[in-house]
Amino acid sequence: MATILAIETSCDETAVAIVKNRQVLSSIVSSQIELHRIYGGVVPELASRQHLEIINPCIAQAISEAQIDWQQIDAIAATCTPGLVGALLVGVAAAKTLAMIHNKPFLGVHHLEGHIYASYLAQPELQPPFLCLLVSGGHTSSIYVKDYGEYKLLGATRDDAAGEAFDKVARLLNLGYPGGPIIDRLAEQGNPRAYQLPEGRISLPEGGYHPYDFSFSGMKTAVLRLVEKLESQGEIPVADIAASFQDTVARVLTRRSIKCALDHNLNTIAIGGGVAANSGLRKYLQQAAEKHDLQVCFPPMKFCTDNAAMIGCAAAEHFNLGHTSSLNLNVQSRMAIEKVMQLYQYA
Ligand code: KG4
Ligand code: ZN
Repeated sequence: MATILAIETSCDETAVAIVKNRQVLSSIVSSQIELHRIYGGVVPELASRQHLEIINPCIAQAISEAQIDWQQIDAIAATCTPGLVGALLVGVAAAKTLAMIHNKPFLGVHHLEGHIYASYLAQPELQPPFLCLLVSGGHTSSIYVKDYGEYKLLGATRDDAAGEAFDKVARLLNLGYPGGPIIDRLAEQGNPRAYQLPEGRISLPEGGYHPYDFSFSGMKTAVLRLVEKLESQGEIPVADIAASFQDTVARVLTRRSIKCALDHNLNTIAIGGGVAANSGLRKYLQQAAEKHDLQVCFPPMKFCTDNAAMIGCAAAEHFNLGHTSSLNLNVQSRMAIEKVMQLYQYA
């Protein structure tokens, strides 16, 4: 049983958690949404400064809520890739410093592997292989979880992430930030069949379409053109546009991930990231899964959005397998999920 203190600062949430394998002892998440709201998106320099301000109180609170002392902690972990470099640096520097002071091993964690481990937190009996559909403000990826630490990226967005598309469409409809929850609420009152939007299919050089990749920027541009056209005609039917956009995104994500799971003989789809909250996506995925006799794991929202418990859970798995990271490990803005094992030295 590994007890891990984990830190997550890859974007705009400062998070610290104490995790014992797949059990969460405490999980502190300080969101910066209010700080970035007036800019309509995350400002990297402001994010790093805020992480620096708040990280020590978050660590103290996580330890106090877990009612644990340093002797009971086996290792210190932090997200080291992918993410905003300045933001990642704050969490990694804090984790390395704590590891040195308390003479504990340090583990760097891949943020997407953390999102995958949110499913293990929600369903501790879950076992690979399964397909993980990660849909957040920064990522849209279909990841084949072959085994512990063994991943293959089967599908990804070629441009905007799904959450980013929700945010951009909300901005052009003057709805505020972050856009996903606002569009979700508005869509309830709109007609999802009111407007037809492009499904963002990726053409292959040999002909046909990529079966699992996504593109959301065309959908966003189509909404922009639609708004321009409707503006010249009078009032804009915002709820119908929100419902049509959400319906298209949900349909596309569902169709391609179900195909991806079936093509690879996987009978479980685990979902993660902020867009996993979307009611349209949940409904379509649940219906399609039932039709094809697949299981869907929807972790609770507190584990879908960025948090440190999922990072601690991934770190505990690596620690139990004898993996630790060098104190010379650097942060990286990008790193393929297939390369996670490069973060570790083996005992
Ligand atoms: O995972 P997350 O909290 O942060 C990262 O991007 O890592 O995801 C935030 C994204 C935002 O783009 C937000 O608009 C979107 O998730 N989101 C939603 C919903 N709730 C949050 N998108 C669609 N429907 C929702 N209900
Ligand atoms: Zn994330």
